[in-house]
Parts: sequence; structure tokens; C-alpha cells
Amino acid sequence: MTTIKKPEARPAKKAWWRRPWVFPLGLLVTVFLVYSLPPYLGLDAAQSRVPAPAGASWYYPVLVAHIGFASIAMVTCALQIWPWLRQRYPAVHRRTGRVYVFAGAIPASIAGFFVALGAAFGPIGAVSTVLLSLLWFGFTVQGYRMARARRFGDHRRWMIRSFALCMSIISNRIWGIVWFLVFTPQLETTFGGSEPAMVQAIAGITTWTGWVLPLLLAEWWLERGRGRRRAPAPGPADRAPASTT
Ligand code: HEM
Repeated sequence: MTTIKKPEARPAKKAWWRRPWVFPLGLLVTVFLVYSLPPYLGLDAAQSRVPAPAGASWYYPVLVAHIGFASIAMVTCALQIWPWLRQRYPAVHRRTGRVYVFAGAIPASIAGFFVALGAAFGPIGAVSTVLLSLLWFGFTVQGYRMARARRFGDHRRWMIRSFALCMSIISNRIWGIVWFLVFTPQLETTFGGSEPAMVQAIAGITTWTGWVLPLLLAEWWLERGRGRRRAPAPGPADRAPASTT
């Protein structure tokens, strides 16, 4: 039997200034990049905030490649999620989308994967970032495939997940400050005076909370209202038969 698929409902158009998150997001991305990029612009390994593993001459170039592609991803991702631009200029959305996928998220996540294997801040953080890079890669590829297949509802869902992981780098930096403030006073107690143990714990907890929480938020965002929309009206089959006992 052939089923006729209903066209997916388009969200109602809203003026750009009625999306209260558009400007704060743009501002956050700008502040993050202005703070993060300068040490890497001179291509001087001595300025890096991330220590390279001993003897790994490949590490710094791959880290810089990661940062470059990830910056492209962040800027294009912020533009992609902006409903006004998407609805008003769909051709721009398609072009910027390709830049996000092929010159941003895919190369950045592959480079991020290898940088994570270098485990600059210990194994707990490394497991988190390896998983993060694989998920970012997977969600983005899946979002692109869905767009190519013209399954735009699925495309939106996968790209919102990809967006959450891309922007999770901002949440990562915020959590870093929170966990630093929480754990530094415990250096002599919880960590027995070991600074490396404390740094690895802070970095590990930061990387996990950095992306898991935004991803959960994205899932909540995608699911909200779905239960209500899906729940069918109770029909005769749902009514319990009268008891015979
Ligand atoms: C979402 C997937 C991402 C993964 C898996 C990832 C992975 C990594 C890894 C493993 C490091 C080395 C430091 C560490 O071990 O924690 C690193 C550093 C860095 N990443 Fe990413 N990253 C991601 C997203 C981004 C994004 C979107 C940006 C935006 C530009 C970015 C910018 C940076 C910067 C600037 C550094 C150097 C550290 C610093 O100077 O603060 N990353 N990343």
C-alpha cells in the first residue's frame, strides 16, 4: 500500500528581533573567538594553551587546523540556526550549510579526534572529547544526508544536535570556571595535595559537563510538545472490557 506523506508543517515566520537568543548567541560566539584565537594566530607553538605530548611534532599543526576549522564551524553554525536568514535567503542557508559541513564541522571534528588522542589533560577528558568528536562528526553527516534526501524534519533534528555540540565549547569554558572554583579549595583534602590530580579532575568533569548538558538540552528542545501531539484520542480499543468476575 502506498502512503501519501503530508508535507512537513513550516514554523510560523517571526521577525528576527523577536528571536531573543539571536543576539546573545552572536555575542557569545564573538567573545569566545576573540578570547580563544589570538594565541594561535601567530602559529607559534610556544603560545599554545594546550601542552603537546612529548615527541609529537604532528600535534601542534593538527591543533591549529582543528581551531581554524572549528572557528569556521562556529560562525557558520550561528548563521544557519538564525530563522530569519534561513527563511528569507534559503540559497544563502544552503551555501553556508555546505561551508559548515565541509569546511567546518567535518574537518574540525576529525582534527579534534586526533588532538583528543594526545590526552593533554588526562584520560577522563580524552574519553569525553573522543566521543564528542565522533558524535559531532556523525550528527553533522547525518544532518547533511537528510537534507540531500529532502527529509527536512530529520535534517533539522540532526543539525540541532550538531549545533548543540558545536556550541558546547562555550559551555565547556563556563563549566571550566565553575569546577575550578569548586575544586581548587579542595586541593589538600580531596586531592591529597596533588595538583596534577586536581587539574585532571577539573578538566575531565569540565569536558563531560561541557557537551552532555547542551546535548540533553537540545533533546529536550526537540521533544517538547511531541508527547502531547503524538498521544491519540482514546478509542474503543483503549477502553478496558467490562470485568466478568
Ligand atoms: C565539538 C567538538 C570539539 C572537539 C571534540 C574538540 C576537541 C578539542 C581538543 C581535544 C582540544 C585540546 C585540548 C583538550 O584536550 O581539551 C581542543 C582545543 C581547542 N579547541 Fe576544540 N573541540 C571541539 C570544538 C571546538 C570548537 C567549536 C571550537 C571553536 C573555535 C574549538 C576551539 C578550540 C580551541 C581554541 C582549543 C585550544 C584550547 C584553548 O586555547 O583554549 N573547539 N579541542
